[in-house]
Amino acid sequence: MSRRGRFGKYGEVKRLERIRRSGSKSLLPKGWHTKTWLHGLMPGRAPRAKGRIRIRPARSSDEEFIKELSAKVFSAYGPYGEIISQWFKSVMPTTLVALMEGERVGFVMTGLLSSDRFAEVVCELLAIAVKPEKQMHGIGKMLLKEAEKKAARLGEKKIFLHTAVGNTAAQKLFSNSGYYCEAIKKNFYPSGQDALMMSKSLKPAPQGS
Ligand SMILES: CC(C)(COP(=O)(O)OP(=O)(O)OC[C@H]1O[C@@H](n2cnc3c(N)ncnc32)[C@H](O)[C@@H]1OP(=O)(O)O)[C@@H](O)C(=O)NCCC(=O)NCCS
Repeated sequence: MSRRGRFGKYGEVKRLERIRRSGSKSLLPKGWHTKTWLHGLMPGRAPRAKGRIRIRPARSSDEEFIKELSAKVFSAYGPYGEIISQWFKSVMPTTLVALMEGERVGFVMTGLLSSDRFAEVVCELLAIAVKPEKQMHGIGKMLLKEAEKKAARLGEKKIFLHTAVGNTAAQKLFSNSGYYCEAIKKNFYPSGQDALMMSKSLKPAPQGS
């Protein structure tokens, strides 16, 4: 089978179809537009960033930033500037953007999978990225945690994701955040790399959160 065929069968083309079918537009909970201000950064081995990080829902005006950052950090895996731009049109309401002192520095994108194919409500983390010069400051961890919190508030029980077998930075972020490897998917990416499928069970959100 040609790579194109494999890609269509196993990889990102199917993901886009799933996202479109899932109708993620309705995922945003009431009150989500309320701004979330996060002061300081997560403790840990990564050095603390000096400024204040703000995480807010994405707006259509963030598309260019998301496209450019994706093209930069995911180019080894395929034409992800274009791919993630397409996803963004479907899942803008469940995309979060991190700002440091007003400057966009990262984003995280999730989508809900249609419940007819899954016994429980399952969320897929489609992409997470931090500007290269702002990495290792705890921003990725903050974005991930915020995306998980919102998913739990929507009643989602599990979150899963794919990341390249060779992407040690991402694997560290995910494994340190409680994700386990469930499977290896061969030739998952358009450029042919294998992916790890990782998942995490989400704790129910506390009442009234
Ligand atoms: C993966 C990514 C989002 C992490 O963002 P980040 O802001 O640098 O991550 P954090 O600073 O929050 O670090 C989280 C943990 O991962 C570790 N980590 C992050 N980058 C690392 C690297 N390059 N090498 C080793 N460990 C790394 C940190 O030390 C930290 O560990 P800790 O939990 O022990 O403190 C970022 O590297 C990135 O944008 N990469 C390109 C895009 C990508 O690959 N996305 C993931 C696939 S969807």
